[in-house]
Amino acid sequence: MTIGADYSSGRERATGDLTVLGLETSCDETAASVVRLSADGTATVLSSVIHSQIDDHAAYGGVVPEIAARSHVEMIAGVTRRAMDEASLNYAALDGVAATAGPGLVGGVMVGLSFGKAAALARGLPFIAVNHLEGHAVSARLGRPVDYPFLLLLVSGGHCQLLEVRGIGDMSRLGTTIDDAAGEAFDKIAKAMGLGYPGGPALERLAATGDGSRIALPRALLDRKDCDFSFSGLKTAASRLAQACVTDQDRADLAAAVQTAIARQLSERSERAMKAYAERHDHRLFVVAGGVAANRTVRSTLEATAAKHGFAFLAPPMAYCTDNAAMIALAGAERLQLGLTSDIDTAARPRWPLDEARALADPVHAPGRKGAKA
Ligand code: KG4
Ligand code: ZN
Repeated sequence: MTIGADYSSGRERATGDLTVLGLETSCDETAASVVRLSADGTATVLSSVIHSQIDDHAAYGGVVPEIAARSHVEMIAGVTRRAMDEASLNYAALDGVAATAGPGLVGGVMVGLSFGKAAALARGLPFIAVNHLEGHAVSARLGRPVDYPFLLLLVSGGHCQLLEVRGIGDMSRLGTTIDDAAGEAFDKIAKAMGLGYPGGPALERLAATGDGSRIALPRALLDRKDCDFSFSGLKTAASRLAQACVTDQDRADLAAAVQTAIARQLSERSERAMKAYAERHDHRLFVVAGGVAANRTVRSTLEATAAKHGFAFLAPPMAYCTDNAAMIALAGAERLQLGLTSDIDTAARPRWPLDEARALADPVHAPGRKGAKA
């Protein structure tokens, strides 16, 4: 790589192949990855190591922040060493270190962020603070080169948003959830049904033997025509119905109904966003990313919706749908390419909207205590 002054912006742009170590610790996965980004936009994952804390949290039915942070402290050095070994690289071969700086459980975020800063300082490398959501936004590019712009549905345990992605650091939000994220709804309903944690995959397995048309569930925000989501009513209704299930078939039918209802809402809001997006862009590509994108019913429903509106459909490879560090390394490399490196005193942020201007202008969705959770 060569670093040269970009006199138009005053930033230092990096050219040539870029090899970046990425770290992810914002929830319950300690992850490290090395990604090489070529000048032509091809991303090669040289290693991707993920230590899942599922077993540490399973007894509590959800992620316990204190336990997560402590586990990240124990695991981060070993996970990073493995990622470097599996990539067969030493630090001298890196062009930068990227770490998730938020949003997420701040105790965990601080672990990866501090470790990444220390590694960058010790080796004299540029440091790049990455928004976890930006990582999900670029994750489809880990499978193959994808041109900007595209319409993105980011749907995970902590987030549910529709975004117009014009490039790295250049995204605007078309809609978001006003209460829970879709993955959170999957998890909480699954918990009410006694399916354990994480609930999404368990609920999908149970739904496979159910009939989704037998149980009616409430639909949200019927009076609105925007691209916002709401899952709390569905969560309450389904959790109540879970107590009334008698047979295994009842439970399977409820799981199928929940899955259909979530897929339907995601599809309806995406449809509205597609219409708005198509007025501004000729290149019609719809990308779905985040853990819930691993759900086959959700994927196929969204794929059909995209096809109906003339959008090509793309989802990241399954391994990069849920939290991983390869997406953080890639976002870091793309930022490095543009000279968007970070100060070493960058703080961890529990809330960090991708489209900060929009979030601040709209109090319902603002970051901070009064904002929606996701
Ligand atoms: O992206 P992710 O790993 O973490 C966040 O950033 O939140 O997403 C995790 C979420 C969890 O809520 C999990 O239940 C959900 O994705 N999920 C699924 C499936 N696999 C993961 N939800 C439904 N069906 C699945 N197969
Ligand atoms: Zn995530």
